[in-house]
Amino acid sequence: MSPRKFQAIKGTRDILPAEISGWHRIEAAARELFPRYGYREIRTPVFEETELFARGIGAETDIVSKEMYTFEDQGGSSLTLRPEATAGIVRAVIEHNLAADDPAPKFWALGPMFRRERPQKGRYRQFHQVDVEAFGMSRPSIDAEIVEVALAYLEACGLRDCELVLNSTGDAKCRPAYVETLRAALRKEAGRLCADCQRRTETNPLRVLDCKVPEDQPVIDGLPRIGDHLCAECRDHFAEVRRELDLLGIRYRLDHRLVRGLDYYTRTTFEVTSGALGAQNSVLGGGRYDGLVKELGGPDLTGIGFALGMERLVMLLPQAEDEGRCDVFLAPLVPDALDPALLLQRDLRRAGLRVLMENEGRGLKSQMKKADKLRARFVAIRGEDERAKDIWMVRDMAGSVQEEVKAGDVARHLEAKLRG
Ligand code: HAM
Repeated sequence: MSPRKFQAIKGTRDILPAEISGWHRIEAAARELFPRYGYREIRTPVFEETELFARGIGAETDIVSKEMYTFEDQGGSSLTLRPEATAGIVRAVIEHNLAADDPAPKFWALGPMFRRERPQKGRYRQFHQVDVEAFGMSRPSIDAEIVEVALAYLEACGLRDCELVLNSTGDAKCRPAYVETLRAALRKEAGRLCADCQRRTETNPLRVLDCKVPEDQPVIDGLPRIGDHLCAECRDHFAEVRRELDLLGIRYRLDHRLVRGLDYYTRTTFEVTSGALGAQNSVLGGGRYDGLVKELGGPDLTGIGFALGMERLVMLLPQAEDEGRCDVFLAPLVPDALDPALLLQRDLRRAGLRVLMENEGRGLKSQMKKADKLRARFVAIRGEDERAKDIWMVRDMAGSVQEEVKAGDVARHLEAKLRG
């Protein structure tokens, strides 16, 4: 019996060489763009103490209550694969005192996140985020900047046709009263709500606003709106954010239901969506989280940021042209040609060219087929005749012309052809 074959775990996927160029493109755009705004890269571990996420994201959120990959390690600690990047970055900022003497504590990160959601198009159990966070800045101008850098990033990656959705969710001063108003309204409608929303009415009424159950929508549409219950400071803050977005020429749609699936948000929340994604239409989401650093044991420091789903962004971008992967293919046809081929291969690679050669000693026809499949620009052949004359036969695969080149000149010749 042949051994059992393995498959990737449900909800995870291999990013294959044929699709890697899209990933490289968006990673390079991040490295190039974020430093222009003063963001520096940070890399935090993929697992943390479970309690960090429970306290940071909120025990009643779907992420914490249903979706975390939590395990006990051999030492008995409860650990969790990070479902998002913000809590870990906040932990690092506190642990290393990163905001203490940095006049602009701004960080960006990218990497894998883990949520045990039901897999579907654009939704995976291991997925990747690009994440941006800024600390200690409480004025509306940083809210506007965060939105602006998010959109500039999408544009740098080549994304068009997306929509910015914006809301303010109030703060510790005005939200508790709104939540009570919401709860009272929900209790009156309990009989018309799904079981989850009936539970949320008591545990975390804001989460009802995220509910996607069609039968619940008429009730939810009639609920009191956060915008009508903001305190004066939150209302002024939001008005100024919008004024600055207008100033910067950034268009948005207001959505009073945009409370987002994590509990740490205060004031500004936003998402960028794309119709081309289908049901999972959010490309990125973020907002302000002014109480989180303190909640996680740090100083009273404000925070704001966003995260983008890399799988979703790559899906939305046009596939890059396959450029081929070989500038020069070396075809040594006789045993004596092996050593010159090895030396030539090394020299060409040192000069920065992409070189492959025949290692299995096959005949000319099969070598040419291989060069074709690799989309080689040039093939350099050395058989009996070429050995006798101490030359290489260099074939230009585009024009199917070939010329004899002295062995000592062949590296320079190919370099000039490919760079010229
Ligand atoms: P989030 O809305 O949970 O926010 O996730 C941000 C983005 O990650 C989503 O818009 C989506 O593109 C992507 N995403 C989330 N879950 C999945 C999944 N299962 N499969 C594929 N992509 C997914 C956060 O994570 C916050 N930490 C954002 C933030 C940063 N807020 C402030 N700072």
